[in-house]
Order: sequence, then C-alpha cells, then structure tokens
Amino acid sequence: MNLTGSAEIYGVIGYPIKHSLSPVFQNAAFSHLGLNAVYVPFEIHPDYLKEALYGLKLAGVKGLNVTVPHKEAVLELVDHLDQDAEKIGAVNTLKFTEGGTEGYNTDWIGFLKAIRELENPEGRRVLVLGAGGASKAVVYALVKAGAEVLIWNRTPEKAERLARTFGVRTVSRPEDVVKEVDIIVNTTSVGLKEDDPPLFDYSLLSEGQAVVDLIYKETSLIRSAKERGCKTQNGFPMLVYQGAESFRIWTGCEPPLKVMKRSLQPYGYI
Ligand code: ATR
Repeated sequence: MNLTGSAEIYGVIGYPIKHSLSPVFQNAAFSHLGLNAVYVPFEIHPDYLKEALYGLKLAGVKGLNVTVPHKEAVLELVDHLDQDAEKIGAVNTLKFTEGGTEGYNTDWIGFLKAIRELENPEGRRVLVLGAGGASKAVVYALVKAGAEVLIWNRTPEKAERLARTFGVRTVSRPEDVVKEVDIIVNTTSVGLKEDDPPLFDYSLLSEGQAVVDLIYKETSLIRSAKERGCKTQNGFPMLVYQGAESFRIWTGCEPPLKVMKRSLQPYGYI
C-alpha cells in the first residue's frame, strides 16, 4: 500500500468492530486498482454515533460502511436517503459529499448477487429464519426478486411485523414448512457457537434444496444440509458482494471481485 497525503479514507463503524473482515477485502481492492485509499475500522459507541459521524466527516473521511448496532440509527443522520435503504429501514453505506451525507443499503443487493450464485430465487418458495436486522434486507431482496417468502422467528411478533412490512407470510414452526420450500436462509445468530441447539430438526432437509447461512463459517445447519445433498452457501459471498457495491458507490470503479474474494481465503472463504 502506497499512501500519500492526498489518500482517501474509508472505513466501517460498528460496536464491537474487531471481528470485521471488511478492511481485509476493501484494502485488497484499493491496492489492486492502485487507488490512493485506505479502509479502517472505527469502534463507535452507540451513545456517540452522531458526534463520531460528524468528526469523521470533518476529518475528511469519504465513505463508511455501517454495521451492528448502528444501521437503523444512522437513518436519522443522513441528508439524502436512497429508496432501497428507506424501504428496508437500514443503512449500511454512507458517502460524504459536498452536498451532504448520502445513505444507501447494499446488503439487499449483496444478498441477491450471492444467492444467485447458488440458485435464482425467482418463483421459489423461501423460508427465512430470523426477523432481526439482517433479515430485513434479505426479505426485501427476495420479494424484489419474485420469491414467495415465509418468515419464522423465535419471537413471533417480530416476524409478523416484518411480514406486514413486506407483504409476506409467517410460519409458527420451521418444521411445518421445511419440506415444502426450495430455499432456506438463516439470518439468526444461531450456529455462531458450536454448541448452539439447532433451529429445527435438520434431518428434515432434503436433496436439491438450497440452504444459505449468513454466518461466515460452516455451521451445523450447513454441515447437515451438505450431508443431505443440499446446495449450500455461507455468509462470505454476501459479505463480499455488499462490500463490492459499497466500493462501487464510493469510487465509481468496477469492484475487483476475484481479488476481494481471494483476500478472504485465509479467513475461510472457499
Ligand atoms: P442481526 O442484525 O444480525 O440480524 P439481530 O437484529 O440481533 O441481529 O437479530 C438476531 C436474530 O437472531 C433475531 O431473529 C433473533 O430472534 P429474536 O427476535 O427472537 O430475538 C435470532 N436469535 C438469536 N438467538 C436465537 C436463538 N437462540 N434461537 C432462535 N433465534 C435466535
């Protein structure tokens, strides 16, 4: 990396942020294209989000990714909100310009590009597990792509709220529908820990189904799905694609996807 005094600064804000892999592949992309730019993590406590954004902007930062727990809170702090971000109700990309702060959501398009590597969701029946922050962009993307979406969540009220927002249905137990869906997407945090109890009886999965887990590693859901002949995908492709779309918004350059993916191989991207 050869940075001069006119280097552009980009980054990611979250709390905590130490686990983030975005600096790895964003910096790989800047280097590959010979851009005088750097991408750094900023751990910002929720109590100081507004002040931190103001300070980063004053310091000349050009753009930021926004991750947990700030994606909803930054909605109120932008001057121009992209339509998709407004509909999803979350921002994961900020661009600071002369005209003000622009807020975008690239999670939905990142998810869509990723899942299309596995299976085209158009006309497919999809079970989405979870109704938290990540689920909103996933459900929005699936509806936009023409899928029939069913949402299950441990706390049913949250599933119902999300389903109402996007005009889809909820289910009270994954077991009731798992055999009738083409695609299953896990957006919950279940599987992060090895000893997490399963979300449903994974032996109900059948050959030919597509199973996506937004967690970056091989969870017990993905392992069981592979054993049963399902097509599988972990969270890495979505991570790269959402970041690639942020990169495009900031730089106007075509993101070097192969380079971005390769840079994550030491961290488990296959
Ligand atoms: P994210 O932004 O990653 O989606 P989140 O908004 O905190 O994070 O959402 C976490 C999701 O994981 C929620 O759907 C949550 O279910 P609840 O709404 O019932 O809390 C789900 N989740 C977390 N732990 C879970 C568990 N042990 N069993 C089932 N679902 C769980």
